[in-house]
Amino acid sequence: MPDEKSYSPGLEGVVAGISSVSEVDPEKSMLIYRGYDVHELAERATYEEVVYLLLMGKLPNRKELSEFTGFIGHERHIPGDLMDMIQAYPDTAHPMDALRSAVSALGLYDKTTSDLSHNATVEKAMKLIAKIPTIIAASHRFRADLDVVDPDPRMTCAESFLHLLTGKKPDPLAVRALDVSLVLYAEHSFNASTFAARVTASTLSDYYSSIVSAIGTLKGPLHGGANEEAIKMMLEIGSPAKAEAWTLEALAKKRLIMGFGHRVYKKGDSRVPIMRKLGQELGEKLNQPQWHQMAQIIEEVMWREKKLPPNVDFPCGYVYYMLKLPIPLYTPIFAASRVAGWSAHIIEQYEHNRIMRPTNIYNGPKEVTFTPLEQRP
Ligand code: SDX
Repeated sequence: MPDEKSYSPGLEGVVAGISSVSEVDPEKSMLIYRGYDVHELAERATYEEVVYLLLMGKLPNRKELSEFTGFIGHERHIPGDLMDMIQAYPDTAHPMDALRSAVSALGLYDKTTSDLSHNATVEKAMKLIAKIPTIIAASHRFRADLDVVDPDPRMTCAESFLHLLTGKKPDPLAVRALDVSLVLYAEHSFNASTFAARVTASTLSDYYSSIVSAIGTLKGPLHGGANEEAIKMMLEIGSPAKAEAWTLEALAKKRLIMGFGHRVYKKGDSRVPIMRKLGQELGEKLNQPQWHQMAQIIEEVMWREKKLPPNVDFPCGYVYYMLKLPIPLYTPIFAASRVAGWSAHIIEQYEHNRIMRPTNIYNGPKEVTFTPLEQRP
């Protein structure tokens, strides 16, 4: 029988699998994707190169990258029926619920859904990585009573997303900033949403069902939803001058400061320095220094009072705000990037599978006598 000693709340520290996709090193605050340091990938590779690395296990050469980006570019369109469904979603639908529903519906149009082979799953992943930004942008534009924008196959993923959202050719500064965030959000070992995808795949359910499990899991404010909550918090604070007092008061009220803390990183999230530097540079270029200034104060208070460092969602929140991205789309953008990591893990789970079924300690009543219905009070 399982005993209390073997139970770890939230599965903290429990080894639930072996994976070659990525490694998070909390001691060194390091993150590697297939052996490459994420800092080097964020500085020197594009999101498309990183997606190729995660799915194929190696960085692409020039020919492979050209073919890969060409395929992704031409797969951005979604079926007309699905576009009509997205348009029919209620205006009040949460963008993550709209995304979850649309990905689920997309699976209905894939005749190869039951094919779990390596090549079939890689192809599904590439098509979904291409289509998710189209779904997010179309859903947003329908809600805003704007015409849907036709995808341009020649654009990169970051460029295309901004174009689909605004209908305009995006500013190179915004494209670069978004691309860096997509690289950093792409993969993070056995986080909750990736683990949810692996549990679903471990039953040999299909790729779309595994991704839908992940999207529903990422939505939570303790996970992917934190980037939206972090910027809402900063907007509530209002200015750097009010940041220290506001944070102290929130902590006194035992409020969670969104964008801080992490289950694995205790000395600092490896992705924060890059996004923090990007936020500072953007703030200088866009004459909006207040966000980085406010962030520095909140970070200082959180470390002094709680020894809690920021996680990647904190700087992503104010970087996306400076890029004028709609706040309700921050978590969908996280999903649009992380679908690459989820896909790599689903492929790996199918190839080295054993159904996930942990055990539990039972703390309910035992040997209760059955009382017939007529005798129950
Ligand atoms: C992501 O796993 C991943 O890799 C996730 C992710 C990825 O790339 O996939 O990195 C992305 O999800 C980042 C995390 C985004 N979430 C948030 O920013 C939400 C705010 N953070 C917390 O909810 C919390 O820090 C978690 C959920 C991130 C981690 O939770 P843990 O490991 O269960 O930590 P805990 O709740 O046990 O906290 C330990 C203590 C508690 O205090 P005590 O009860 O011991 O007094 O620290 C406190 C907590 O109250 N604490 C916080 C806090 N985070 C922890 N107090 C205030 N604000 C916070 N943010």
